[in-house]
Amino acid sequence: MARYSRITGTGSYLPPRRLTNADLAAELAAQGIETSDDWIVERTGIHARHFAAAGVCSSDLGVEAAKKALEAAGLEPVDIDLIIVATSTPDMVFPSTACILQNKLGMAGCPAFDLQAVCSGFVYALTVADALIKSGTATKALVIGAEVFSRILDFSDRTTCVLFGDGAGAVVLQASETPGILASDLHADGKHVNILCVPGGVSGGKVLGDPLLKMDGQAVFKLAVGVLESAARAALAKAYLTDADIDWLIPHQANIRIMQSTAKKLKVPLEKLIITVDQHGNTSAASIPLALDTAVRSGKIKKGDTLMLEGVGGGFTWGAVLLNY
Ligand code: ACO
Repeated sequence: MARYSRITGTGSYLPPRRLTNADLAAELAAQGIETSDDWIVERTGIHARHFAAAGVCSSDLGVEAAKKALEAAGLEPVDIDLIIVATSTPDMVFPSTACILQNKLGMAGCPAFDLQAVCSGFVYALTVADALIKSGTATKALVIGAEVFSRILDFSDRTTCVLFGDGAGAVVLQASETPGILASDLHADGKHVNILCVPGGVSGGKVLGDPLLKMDGQAVFKLAVGVLESAARAALAKAYLTDADIDWLIPHQANIRIMQSTAKKLKVPLEKLIITVDQHGNTSAASIPLALDTAVRSGKIKKGDTLMLEGVGGGFTWGAVLLNY
């Protein structure tokens, strides 16, 4: 009998401290940096973001999202036999955030590892978990996107610090006799490393380079719009489906203009586009599972709907996962 994987529970978590654009603008003004609610809303669609308190790490946010996903799936931590955490803001250099999170969930024994593909991390992680389930290596996986991007923002650079937020989203992916995940399409092109990066590292007991985020926003924007369309089309083709079969489009939540332009190219009506960037900002690998969980819990997404998830980010990386929810 064919073996597939399907999502059986979703969860998400945002740290309690919420900053509206006006709150952030006031904090930046105190340092002599000028920005405004109007500029941020017009260019990005972002109205607010959440920042984690000092000492709160990606694993702390991820654990809360994972608990909700487990509850939704009707499972206990002990039932899980694989954990993948997509993150670019790990708690430590090592061990992985996934191992730290596993322990915080009171579990031991199952494989746990981090996956680093920046804002495409969740679609990469979901694809890997799907493959491990199909191969029989795992049966019940926790796939988590968790980030504290506030830790790597340069608050003297108004072109980037207004765009990002902290948060986590999670799904339980289980072996199933019916699909589930229908198709994936993943890509990377390392020649674009410099348009979006945190060009620092730890060496000899020191941080070498600059440990804060750098982005050429316009270069990222142009690349993102093209690759999001091509990845979605490739995933649809692999599943012998077309644009018209998409019930909900859940792109990486970075900028509302990129998301709307992708929907237009895929001929997906704007009312079928899931938008949470307005409330969360760009939470990198957490953005897709956060948006998915928000739409599931609001009752928009229903069992049996066809979902197109799409990630794009540093690397440059991009990809799409088409699934039956
Ligand atoms: N407040 C006020 N003014 C600002 C701000 C700000 N926060 N930031 C920039 N400006 C000014 C600039 O200085 C510039 O002024 P000038 O014309 O006097 O020089 C003007 O606004 C326009 O700046 P642009 O950079 O041209 O603005 P643009 O319309 O390109 O929008 C943005 C910038 C929002 C970053 C956009 O390029 C974008 O969204 N890019 C994509 C980002 C993205 O999708 N990232 C996803 C991947 S993230 C990941 O993988 C981690």
